[in-house]
Amino acid sequence: MDLYKPLGLALLLLLGLCSQYALRNQGATLGAPAHLAARSWVSTLSSWPFGAQSRPPAEGPKRRLLQDAENDKHADEAVKQLIVRLNASRLLPLPVKPQERCVLTKGTWCMQYHLQAPVPRYPPRYYDKPCPNDCNGVGNCNHEYGLCFCPAGWGGPDCSQPRKRPCHHMGEGKRDAGWHNLTAWSHTRCAGVCDDDVAMCYCPPDTKYGHREAPPGARPGAPPEQRGRPLFMCTPGTDKDGKKVEWGGTPYEDMFGPEGWCNADKPKFTCPCRLDGLLGPTCSEVVEQTCTNQCSGHGECNQGFCKCHAGWYGVDCGLRRAGVLSEVGDEWLTKPWIEPTLTHTVATEDPPLTPVRRRPYIYVYDMKPDFSTDLMQYRIEGSHCLYRSFGHGNRTSFVGYNAYGVEPVLHELFLTSEHRTLDPEEADYFYVPVNLGCLFDVYGWNEIPRWPRGLLGPRTHGAAMMQREAMRWLNATFPYFARRGGRDHIWVNPHDEGACYVWKEVWPGVMLSHWGRLDFPHASNTAYGQDNYSLPLHHAAHPGDWRDHTSLAHPCFDPKKDLVVPAFKQPALYNKSPFLGAPADRERDVFAFFIGDLRMEPGRDPACRYSRCIRQRLYNISRDQHWKEAHGVLYGERKDIGSDATYSELLARSKFCFVLPGDGWSPRWEDAVLHGCVPVVIMDDVQVVFESLIDVSLFSLRIPEADLDRVVDILKALPQAKLAEMQRHLARVWHRYRYMGLRMLEDSARSIMWDYRAEAGGKAPRTPGAEFSTSRQDDAFATILQWLYHRIPEVHGTQQASKAGALTAGAASDSVGVAAAA
Ligand SMILES: *[C@@H]1O[C@H](CO)[C@@H](O)[C@H](O)[C@H]1NC(C)=O
Ligand SMILES: *[C@@H]1O[C@H](CO)[C@@H](O)[C@H](O)[C@H]1NC(C)=O
Ligand SMILES: *[C@@H]1O[C@H](CO)[C@@H](O)[C@H](O)[C@H]1NC(C)=O
Ligand SMILES: *[C@@H]1O[C@H](CO)[C@@H](O)[C@H](O)[C@H]1NC(C)=O
Ligand SMILES: *[C@@H]1O[C@H](CO)[C@@H](O)[C@H](O)[C@H]1NC(C)=O
Ligand SMILES: *[C@@H]1O[C@H](CO)[C@@H](O)[C@H](O)[C@H]1NC(C)=O
Repeated sequence: MDLYKPLGLALLLLLGLCSQYALRNQGATLGAPAHLAARSWVSTLSSWPFGAQSRPPAEGPKRRLLQDAENDKHADEAVKQLIVRLNASRLLPLPVKPQERCVLTKGTWCMQYHLQAPVPRYPPRYYDKPCPNDCNGVGNCNHEYGLCFCPAGWGGPDCSQPRKRPCHHMGEGKRDAGWHNLTAWSHTRCAGVCDDDVAMCYCPPDTKYGHREAPPGARPGAPPEQRGRPLFMCTPGTDKDGKKVEWGGTPYEDMFGPEGWCNADKPKFTCPCRLDGLLGPTCSEVVEQTCTNQCSGHGECNQGFCKCHAGWYGVDCGLRRAGVLSEVGDEWLTKPWIEPTLTHTVATEDPPLTPVRRRPYIYVYDMKPDFSTDLMQYRIEGSHCLYRSFGHGNRTSFVGYNAYGVEPVLHELFLTSEHRTLDPEEADYFYVPVNLGCLFDVYGWNEIPRWPRGLLGPRTHGAAMMQREAMRWLNATFPYFARRGGRDHIWVNPHDEGACYVWKEVWPGVMLSHWGRLDFPHASNTAYGQDNYSLPLHHAAHPGDWRDHTSLAHPCFDPKKDLVVPAFKQPALYNKSPFLGAPADRERDVFAFFIGDLRMEPGRDPACRYSRCIRQRLYNISRDQHWKEAHGVLYGERKDIGSDATYSELLARSKFCFVLPGDGWSPRWEDAVLHGCVPVVIMDDVQVVFESLIDVSLFSLRIPEADLDRVVDILKALPQAKLAEMQRHLARVWHRYRYMGLRMLEDSARSIMWDYRAEAGGKAPRTPGAEFSTSRQDDAFATILQWLYHRIPEVHGTQQASKAGALTAGAASDSVGVAAAA
């Protein structure tokens, strides 16, 4: 017995370290329900770099006395070594003291947040308002509002009225109205049969792989008898007699012949298969579709619309109707593959497993489908509007590129956040999840959605109108919008030119965007004509020119009430960063770096509008001044760089990285900071991410547009010691520029860091900044919330400020009060 005591101690210690590790790095583990917490435990342990410790060989009883002392000595030594190895495998501790956590921040927002005294968390509020006709069995009843939210195709107060999205030129039997006498091309012209709930085209019902609807009399919303193969982006160039069809391109036989896409088991021609949930060359592999928070395991996902199981509601089916037992309908047991996508929701814990809470309290609206899930269901590309999806075998994966990915990411973060409240009466802020970025993917493919119906203006006009409609719906449905003039409503504007063209009645709210343009008056600078918000447009829906209600009425960004937030980057996009644990022994051998679109091909952008002509002018300067040969600067498009190193690798190898605009924002600040490369910002009158919150001058350079010629001289003039200091600062603040806190993000960051640790023989990275590699502490989302806290008094108005102060215990109330008075 004694023999094993030291070993037992060591194991205890191991468990202790593991659990600390798990807690520190997982944040949510503390509040996770048993099954999630258990899973995290198992993964933490099973990925531990050491195998199970083998017991020493058993000894005969006779030799025991003699050997006891010797054994103890060995065991002590073994324990010591184990502790050393364990210690080496752990990341360095994160800063704990508010002063340390607030390094490099400006003003008091950060300290104020940390000085507030947490208060006990109470069980969530439950609601039980009924809905008419049980929403016809197709929609979800929001039991807080007593409103039905219907999937695409259904409408009316009880989801019983058709709300269709027909294909272009759709006629009898949902077939095309005339291949020859109607010649106009459209994205949603359908040569097969149209699913007119969402304007998706499938092989016609009389083919083997045709779409066959549920029989007449089936329950509303019943799935089709056979879904069939999609005919998406696949249009016939000829009819069955070989006569040319103006709006198509594919030979008739290839689509509808016996060997064609719609009939053959192994068709010789394949149409694209890009719908969410269908994979493989013949679109026959059914995989899980993607929904917000994967319907929390309490619903079925249909192209972005969660149909919740009985007793559950909300956009992610995360809310439980009053009186329903919590165990009903947990789906991760029957669909284990959704588990790695589920982020634990703190606000619905009952009893509260996360014992305390801090302000700000944020209420997340459940939005009318017109502004939210409809857009998801109208997607034509599986990857549109998402940040993650399911691949072969239902493996989770990140969507490779969605510039507006912050939209679905923030929605899930707000829903799962410990700052979320289910009680709008106590809310400090209201988060408005409108799928604005998603509209940019969907807009123009079909007559629906358009805002207003029938008008196809610039995409920016459509988006601004949709946002205005969402605001009007909120204002007509809830008392909260008018209560504080909309100042406490949070809107995300992920588009390239951010909030430049937001409706003036929406503008008083908190605008989160990636574009910190300050000048006023301002005009659109996009080279993408469809998005030009300075195009005049008159319509009865808004008296006069829309610009008078939008871009001419306010700047793009007001640093006082708005925030420039990081674009979304999944960890794999900075996997070569020393901050994720990549070995940092190599000297940064690239002096300065930029790879990106230049659009200098003749005729491409004759007026040189793109990037304010900064990228292009710099390119010519780099060529004329021989930057590459003379200074080791890599600048240009991929072909100019002459290296097949990954983007992440090049960023990690560079001392300076250029931050230049694109059509509006371009996520170069994030790229630079996340790789420890000192950002060189060249865009006048545009704030970079969190510039209003963090003293970015301590780790970045800003060069006026007028000084392009001198860029290299300016960089060369920076003393080595100053550069080293900036690099040290970057390591202390980089984590604020990326999002953690969602299950897949944490898993991904952890697996990258663990790989580096394994390569280093079990030693955790000790590079400055790597201590944050897998932590959500003070990440981008936390930074946003901390800043929001400090703005409460101002947003609520002076009178509300004292109330806000009174609600907040201790020192924080004083500092909030001071801020309000200032
Ligand atoms: C663990 O390592 C740190 C430095 O990396 C050191 O300060 C600390 O004393 C070590 N702890 C133990 C128990 O060895
Ligand atoms: C177009 O042709 C179809 C037959 O192919 C006919 O049914 C339809 O009425 C025609 N439509 C028009 C607008 O001429
Ligand atoms: C993937 O998910 C879909 C939808 O839930 C399911 O039908 C399918 O069987 C799953 N496939 C695997 C390999 O688990
Ligand atoms: C909100 O509704 C109130 C009351 O109906 C109305 O007076 C106000 O003008 C509305 N605000 C906006 C921005 O539409
Ligand atoms: C946008 O439209 C306005 C008005 O037609 C025009 O003056 C401006 O040049 C356009 N902007 C861009 C970047 O093309
Ligand atoms: C760059 O140089 C080319 C000639 O090589 C010239 O045609 C082009 O106008 C220049 N562009 C800029 C933005 O200076």
